[in-house]
Amino acid sequence: MRVPAKVNLHLGVGPRRSDGYHELANVFQAVSLYDEVTATRADELSVEVTGADGVPVDESNLAVQAARALASAAGVEPGVHLRLAKGIPVAGGMAGGSADAAAALVACDALWGTGVDRATLAALAAALGSDVPFALHGGTALGTGRGELLSAVLGRGQYHWVFALADGGLSTAAVYAELDRQRTEAMAAAPAGAPDGVLAALRAGDPIALGRVLANDLAPAAVRLRPQLRRVIGAGQELGALGTVVSGSGPTVAFLVRSAAMSISFASALAGLDVCRSIRRAHGPVAGARILPPDSP
Ligand code: C5P
Repeated sequence: MRVPAKVNLHLGVGPRRSDGYHELANVFQAVSLYDEVTATRADELSVEVTGADGVPVDESNLAVQAARALASAAGVEPGVHLRLAKGIPVAGGMAGGSADAAAALVACDALWGTGVDRATLAALAAALGSDVPFALHGGTALGTGRGELLSAVLGRGQYHWVFALADGGLSTAAVYAELDRQRTEAMAAAPAGAPDGVLAALRAGDPIALGRVLANDLAPAAVRLRPQLRRVIGAGQELGALGTVVSGSGPTVAFLVRSAAMSISFASALAGLDVCRSIRRAHGPVAGARILPPDSP
């Protein structure tokens, strides 16, 4: 299975609900940074991770939780060895853990031939994490509720991105908690900002308009927890990005640029500023979790 990362084009955070989650108006775009997840039959459940440090291989791994949840819903033994080849930055706000969970669901479903219906798979995905349904969906989508209620967004065009990766991740829960600390009572009660500008820019297929309206309510909290991000975000304007946005809960910062060629020159200029650990280029939207044909690289 190959499963993409996401970037948030609009992340409007509304009131905190009684279950602790926040109401969102969240426009996701799947981008061409991928994890590859392989499921092979085994007596017991185990997981192996390549391509990144710091990913847990115990029960806290979301792919392990996905395999267990599916096995229990389908009434089968969770016999599988999962291999996660990481291409998505870890704890970077690009939903790498959610991507692995989505891919594990589909891969184990195929391996075990569970025959669970799509609605069950979608419910399992939502229970695993707010971003897991989107990793199955791919493309561009609006997520409401806590982010798990998806509707496809009609849009045109290919968008080109450069991502600045930071040293070390940020915990999503910690960033939301910091946002709660920063917000006044009135701010905390206001509904999530509507993504009208982003939706209009996507309908028009206009990257310049999209660049102007990229927005993330979590950004101030991420910057507060990681003040170095201010310089990374500042680099977007300095280097002429169409738009700059913290991806999800950060610390990855996304720069929208005009073309694939521009993403190469932008990435090298960004490297010259020495404000981030590493840099990736990608385009979107791309498809969600997919089974790779056997002859793919
Ligand atoms: O759903 P997920 O497990 O990815 O969420 C991780 C944490 O992020 C939650 O425990 C919660 O603290 C925070 N969160 C939130 N509101 C959302 C999504 C996530 O407060 N809509």
